[in-house]
Amino acid sequence: MPYSIQVNGTLKTVDVDGDMPLLWVLRDVLDLKGSKFGCGAGLCGACTVHLDGTPARSCQTAIADVGSSAVTTIEGVSDNPVGRRIQAAWLEVDVPQCGYCQAGQIMSATALLAKTPHPTDQDVADAMAGNICRCATYMRIRAAIKKAATMRTAAAGSP
Ligand code: FES
Ligand code: FES
Repeated sequence: MPYSIQVNGTLKTVDVDGDMPLLWVLRDVLDLKGSKFGCGAGLCGACTVHLDGTPARSCQTAIADVGSSAVTTIEGVSDNPVGRRIQAAWLEVDVPQCGYCQAGQIMSATALLAKTPHPTDQDVADAMAGNICRCATYMRIRAAIKKAATMRTAAAGSP
């Protein structure tokens, strides 16, 4: 049946089964491939998006349960000033290795910094605990979050 969801500020209507995971809808129906499939079981965080600014595992979120929540994916995170700071810090610190987990990491980090502008190491550890990195970039992730907390917000559209 048709479902209308708000994705990155745009209303999209998709005609799918209600139990289809949001991750499938994003990647296979809306062609937003930035959110990654890792475990498919809510354990790795590769599929993390925001629902109304809160991190959510899109592999575990049925499209029927999204309702009126605003969905933000990695493709839309730079619309958020905090997301732009996180992305800039990620580049400065050169965080990624293979990159597979990084969209999910950035979504969780953006939600953390939006809620806690100057996180402690423990805040970072708690907020990022569900995002697994096979390449073990954890130290650089923490450094980038700390750097982003000290940066001024970049203008929209700037790198
Ligand atoms: S793919 Fe969703 S948590 Fe791993
Ligand atoms: S950068 Fe390779 S899994 Fe995280």
